[in-house]
Amino acid sequence: MKTTAQKPMPDEINSILRGYQPARTLLTAVELDVFSAIGRGATAQDVAKKIKSSPRGTEILLNALAALGFVNKTGEVFRNSGIADEFLREGAKNDSRLPILHTANQWRRWSEMTDCVRRGKPADLKPMKSRGAGWRNPFIAAMHRNAASRAPRLAAALDLRGVRSVLDVGGGSGAFSVAFARANPAIRATVFDLPNVTPLTREYVGQSDVAKRVRTRDGDYLKDDFGEGYDLVLFSAVLHINSPAENKRLLKKAFRALNSGGRVVIHDSVMDRSKTKPASGALFALNMLVSTHKGNSYSGAEYGRWLKDAGFSGLQTIPLPGPSGLMIGRKS
Ligand SMILES: C[S@@+](CC[C@H](N)C(=O)[O-])C[C@H]1O[C@@H](n2cnc3c(N)ncnc32)[C@H](O)[C@@H]1O
Repeated sequence: MKTTAQKPMPDEINSILRGYQPARTLLTAVELDVFSAIGRGATAQDVAKKIKSSPRGTEILLNALAALGFVNKTGEVFRNSGIADEFLREGAKNDSRLPILHTANQWRRWSEMTDCVRRGKPADLKPMKSRGAGWRNPFIAAMHRNAASRAPRLAAALDLRGVRSVLDVGGGSGAFSVAFARANPAIRATVFDLPNVTPLTREYVGQSDVAKRVRTRDGDYLKDDFGEGYDLVLFSAVLHINSPAENKRLLKKAFRALNSGGRVVIHDSVMDRSKTKPASGALFALNMLVSTHKGNSYSGAEYGRWLKDAGFSGLQTIPLPGPSGLMIGRKS
C-alpha cells in the first residue's frame, strides 16, 4: 500500500464513505427512544436517566442530533424539532419508530455484506418462519408503511371491475388486499402468509373498514398449494425473496389457482436487462444478498419469460411512481 502523500479524495468518494454517519446517528436515537425521552424538553442528564445510558454518550448523541436538525438546543435544554415531534416520538401523529427499527435490523445485516459477497449468501440466517417478534414486528410495520401508501395507487392502476376473488401471496399486513376490497365492494381477498405473520395481518386488517372481506390463510408459499377459483393473484414484494427456479414454480401455482380470464400481478422492482437500473433496484439486490439465501432484483425480461413459461399471455408492464412497477399476465 502506498503511504506517501496523495491527492485528497474527491467529494464523490468522501460523501458516500461518510454517508453512514447520519443514518447510524438516527437509528441509535430511535433504538434508544431518545425523542420520547426528550418529551417537551430535557437536558442531556434527564435524557440519559430516562434511557438508562451514560451522560457522556447521551450528550454527544444529542449534540449530533441537533447538528442534523432533529432536535433544537437552547442553553442545556434539548427539544424535538417539528419533524421529530411528528414522526419519531411515542404518541406522535405519524409515529414511525417501529418501521425504523426494521432499518436498524437491516443495518446489522448490511454490516456483514463483505462476507456475504464472498460466500454468495449470509452465513447465519434464520428462515423467516422462525424469526422472533423483535425482527418480525418491525419488518411487517415497515412493509405496511410502504404498502399502505402505494396500495390505493396500485388498485387504481389495475382494472378491478369483474374481480371477485383475490389471493394476496405473502400479503404481509394485508394493505393491498384492503385497498382492493375498498376499490370494489364485490372483492373478497385472502392474505396467504406464514403462521407467525398472519396474527399481525389480522390486527392490521381488523383496523380497516373492510375486515369482513379480507381473511388470512396460513401457509408456506414454497410448499403449500394455493387452491383455486381466484380472479387475481398478487405477488407484491415477494418474488425478490426467491430464486428464479422458485419463482417459476410460484407463477405456475398461480396459473393453476386462477379462473380463466384471471390475472397474475407482480409488484416489484423491475430492472432493465443490464440489472443496473433503476439504481434503487440494484442496491435493493444487495439487501436481498444480505438478508435472503436466494433473492435478487429481477429484470422485466426475466419476469416476462417466467410468466410465458407458466402459461400466461397478454403480458403488460405498468410503471408506477417510485421504485417498483407492475408486470401482469392473463390466463386465457
Ligand atoms: C417483503 S414482504 C411483502 C409484504 C406485502 N406483500 C407487501 O408488499 O407489503 C414479504 C412477505 O412474504 C412473506 N413470506 C416470506 N416467505 C414466505 C413463505 N415461504 N410463505 C409465505 N409467506 C412468506 C413474509 O412473511 C412477508 O409478509
